[in-house]
Amino acid sequence: MNNKYDLIYEGKAKKVFTHNDSDKVIIEFKDDATAFNALKKAKFEGKGKLNCLISAKIFELLIKKNIPTHFIKLKNENTMIAKKIKIIPLEIVLRNNAYGSLCKQTTLKSGTILAKPLIDIYLKNDELNDPLLTKDRIELMKIISSKDLDLIIDLTLKINVILKSFFKNIKLQLVDFKLEFGYDFKKNIILGDEISPDNCRLWDLNQENDKIVSLDKDRFRNDLGGLIEAYTEINRRINNFI
Ligand code: TMP
Repeated sequence: MNNKYDLIYEGKAKKVFTHNDSDKVIIEFKDDATAFNALKKAKFEGKGKLNCLISAKIFELLIKKNIPTHFIKLKNENTMIAKKIKIIPLEIVLRNNAYGSLCKQTTLKSGTILAKPLIDIYLKNDELNDPLLTKDRIELMKIISSKDLDLIIDLTLKINVILKSFFKNIKLQLVDFKLEFGYDFKKNIILGDEISPDNCRLWDLNQENDKIVSLDKDRFRNDLGGLIEAYTEINRRINNFI
């Protein structure tokens, strides 16, 4: 990245830089992959580019459907220009099926279709290992008002309706995903972060049997191999459809 921009923040999968316009930032998507709170780490050449391109398309789709997002435009294949927001330290996970940590922590059977989407909210805090929160704990920590929390939950449910139907059209099952929101300078709640196979579980519906074929970061989490091939396939299907 051009050194005329200052690094504001470096996360596990992205770097955020200043922009000439103080209301904007430049986000660079890295090739690094982590899992289990960075206990497991690897680099996949081309992942940053694929996640940036996929996220851009998904953000454009959501903006068309009146969801406020931080995305402004692509700068190049692995960087985007976004609105500067102050990230709310919550990870909002929506689940359509029981999988992953939900199956490790409950008696629900893997893959079970949930009668209604389940929203699990985690504290975005690596030192504490992103613990699962309750509404009361969120209130106690004064992270966000209950009105804003309701707004975020409502936006997450709306985003699920849009994304579920979009992914179904390209023969992918949206199992679950994680969102992060922030406040812009006017205190509006805006969707931030990324929407990519790093933070969505996407199963291939082009399978003749009931076998689960993950086209997302579970390929790395569960040592399945073929991560770049899976992300490339997601990007290909999105571009063929839009
Ligand atoms: P989980 O089943 O491990 O709780 O994950 C639920 C969803 O959230 C899944 O799509 C992966 C995503 N996720 C992240 O994006 N970041 C994280 O740190 C975790 C734990 C999950």
